[in-house]
Amino acid sequence: MEKNSLIRTEAFVNGQWVKAASSKTFEVTNPATGEVLAQVTDMDRADVQQAIDAAHKAWPSYRDTTAKERANLLRKWFNLMLEHKQELAELMTLECGKVLQESLGEVEYGASFIEWFAEEAKRAYGDVIPAYSKDRRLVVIKQSVGVAAAITPWNFPLAMITRKVGPALAAGSTVVVKPPSETPLTALAISYLAQKAGFPPGVYNTITSSNSSEIGKELCENTKVRKLSFTGSTPVGKILMTQSASTLKKLSLELGGNAPFIVFDDADLDAAVKGAILSKFRNNGQTCVCVNRVLVQESVYDAFVEKFTQAVADLKVGNGLQKDVQVGPLINKKGLEKVQQHVQDAVEKGATVTTGGKHLEGLFYQPTVLANASPEMLIAREEVFGPVAPVFKFSTEQEAIEMANDTDYGLASYFYSKDVARCWRVSEALEYGMVGINEGMISTEVAPFGGIKESGFGREGSKYGLDYFMEIKYMCFGGIE
Ligand code: SIN
Repeated sequence: MEKNSLIRTEAFVNGQWVKAASSKTFEVTNPATGEVLAQVTDMDRADVQQAIDAAHKAWPSYRDTTAKERANLLRKWFNLMLEHKQELAELMTLECGKVLQESLGEVEYGASFIEWFAEEAKRAYGDVIPAYSKDRRLVVIKQSVGVAAAITPWNFPLAMITRKVGPALAAGSTVVVKPPSETPLTALAISYLAQKAGFPPGVYNTITSSNSSEIGKELCENTKVRKLSFTGSTPVGKILMTQSASTLKKLSLELGGNAPFIVFDDADLDAAVKGAILSKFRNNGQTCVCVNRVLVQESVYDAFVEKFTQAVADLKVGNGLQKDVQVGPLINKKGLEKVQQHVQDAVEKGATVTTGGKHLEGLFYQPTVLANASPEMLIAREEVFGPVAPVFKFSTEQEAIEMANDTDYGLASYFYSKDVARCWRVSEALEYGMVGINEGMISTEVAPFGGIKESGFGREGSKYGLDYFMEIKYMCFGGIE
């Protein structure tokens, strides 16, 4: 920690590193060891108002920069992130427990949004519309939405910030970032790199606080904030949406999931096991797109469970900084308790633990497979957000689709089949924003990430991402002779 040149513990407002007016701080701990890593500035609502004011003041001149100027700033920031890849990754592993290899991957993944939107900044094209009368010309332009706030989660301490601020900054918005209290250090480290990249004061602001609900309320109710992008749970998303009604704030909500992973009898079982491991145990099962339910066709059920169980039993659990470790700790006690509750409930309702099922020390839990899972189990309805994979049985394609869609969520879904016609049929029938076909890892900056139903709305990344930070303006030129 001491050797990490990116450590910052104060908030970043208007180009300055600032303390809370109250001088209060909160602790950041390492979930792998329980060690206190840092004391970070604990802002209240009045502190946050100052950050919003700074972003609001900086907006007109930043908005009026050329797309190329903004692209150059983003490109510098992207390069700095990659130059500091190792330090950023270590910081991330320390504060969120993610294994180092995944943290290194997240730095690249997170930085890729900045590179992508540096390029997209120059492509925010408008339109010329064929006029309805000879003396008129109709034009559509796109303009920055104004101050954009980002409330981000601890499971991707870097990438969930860049996926929001990349398009915002590219579009000409100024930003106020509220990282979670579990992982503010990575957020502050990239703020420091944004400062080094040369964003003018007030364009990029990071506010830190242990009081997420109070700060969230301010970001929703403050009229100077014109856009709020949130990644987190569905219940919190609903609160933010309610609070945003008073200012009719534009919202993007990337919320919870209940991802099905369907294995049909014509699937390559080894490939399916590999995909399920990747998708289920990435970040110890703590991502919104992690598999939550494995659905397997009855004729290959036993064979799949056997292979999957073996692969899960081979996963190495430990402190993410140690070599070869594949699965780290859960983020906190609440996360661990949820995993324990889901396993206990499933076992009481008839599930068989084929591997795992036990709490290790601290926040570590054994990677677990539950065979004979059934729809009345808690884990069939709720996101477990941990290293537990329940395996359900189905007999027909129609039944698999019905089971997969039988949830209020609609973020990611996956299935394995070698039949091309089935691949099209099932992809179209799944009520989800994203579908992985013979693939367990689908996230990338070039494709639209987002959900339907109670998984929220809005898309991040891709050619669509910029539009969520822009307003459309129609201009009618009259009197043209
Ligand atoms: C998330 O868990 O919200 C993001 C996962 C991803 O980007 O793959």
